[in-house]
Amino acid sequence: MSRLLVTGGAGFIGANFVHHWLRQHPSDRVVVLDALTYAGNPENLATLQGSASLRFVQGDIGDTPRIEALLREESIDTIVHFAAESHVDRSIHGPDAFIATNVVGTHGLLKAARQVWLQEGLAPAHRFHHVSTDEVYGSLGPDDPGFSEATQYQPNSPYSASKAASDHLVRAYHHTYGLAVTTSNCSNNYGPFHFPEKLIPLMIVNILHGRPLPVYGDGRNVRDWLHVSDHCRGIELVLGQGRPGEVYNIGGGAECENIALVKLLCRVADEAFAEDPQLRARYPQSPAAAGNAASLITHVKDRAGHDRRYAIDCGKIERELGYRAQVKLEAGIRDTFAWYVANPGWWQRVMDGSYRNWLATNYGR
Ligand code: NAD
Ligand code: TYD
Repeated sequence: MSRLLVTGGAGFIGANFVHHWLRQHPSDRVVVLDALTYAGNPENLATLQGSASLRFVQGDIGDTPRIEALLREESIDTIVHFAAESHVDRSIHGPDAFIATNVVGTHGLLKAARQVWLQEGLAPAHRFHHVSTDEVYGSLGPDDPGFSEATQYQPNSPYSASKAASDHLVRAYHHTYGLAVTTSNCSNNYGPFHFPEKLIPLMIVNILHGRPLPVYGDGRNVRDWLHVSDHCRGIELVLGQGRPGEVYNIGGGAECENIALVKLLCRVADEAFAEDPQLRARYPQSPAAAGNAASLITHVKDRAGHDRRYAIDCGKIERELGYRAQVKLEAGIRDTFAWYVANPGWWQRVMDGSYRNWLATNYGR
């Protein structure tokens, strides 16, 4: 039985991971530590509320004494570190929070792990798994091979620079102090609980509302889309069989230009509206009701420093750990569209900010 501390477990990927882990390992203990920034939504864990396996703690990864106490009190042997500021556009407008959480916060967490696991010797068999991004490698040309674990770091945005710094700190704590770390660098995730400021959920919500679909620049930027369930499986493999000190890239094998992805979402929406009269009745303002969601596509000013192409070479995790991305892009997009249609309360509460009331109702805060 493992005892996990999952940081950022109320965010998009962290929450998906907690659900995945407790489905696969129901007798494990999972303690979620999350500061509940704008992106943290404990409602993402609502169906697990009351489970004896899960404890939710509101707190900051930079609060080293608090984390040390938590590691001791819960006899944690595994940290899975998702907590971060994660949105590139926000990092362009306000980089400070990215340095505070992604760099200084990660260091606070590493210090706590070193103190309790190494200096006090409380978990001789331990693992610190750090979740990072392919964006640390910079931007690819159209014919370049995908990023491998040996690709030189060339972060271009304040977000990717702060994640790169955290990757280096994690590596250094292994090399210098012997902390048993692993790192995974993954491509763009999508799926349930994705905060509607990122491309896919924003486009879905805008299609439903009949609002413009803002495509940055010429829309020819390429991302390698990874369904969050494949990402969770990849992390599980690294936790189970990954070698301490190693880095594993996790991708979806699904490169797609933004404009093609947005057109795919429009087609999926048009088809869903055509098949479901209730959807047409719920969202009559959407051009998808007339089979024309693509009329909402609007090219807007490009993002500053916008990376052109990301792609992942997953060869290492496939060879060493048997990883395979299972979700094909179109099927994953259909499922994701269906999840947003089935959960309007979730994204409406996220978008109007009222999801925070859930905290007050359920936790008295
Ligand atoms: P998210 O923004 O949805 O969630 C981040 C979570 O971290 C939130 O719950 C937030 O409240 C919490 N948090 C933020 N600052 C904190 C702090 N100081 N202390 C404790 N908790 C804090 O992010 P996500 O998309 O789920 O990403 C999770 C991780 O995966 C991040 O490290 C991100 O860099 C990485 N990643 C994400 C993607 C992606 O496509 N979303 C791709 C590659 C890597
Ligand atoms: P995003 O979901 O923000 O992820 P990242 O910047 O980490 O890759 O954006 C994915 C791609 O979509 C990226 O090339 C920027 C683009 N994009 C748009 O064209 N319009 C939008 O409104 C958003 C949020 C992103």
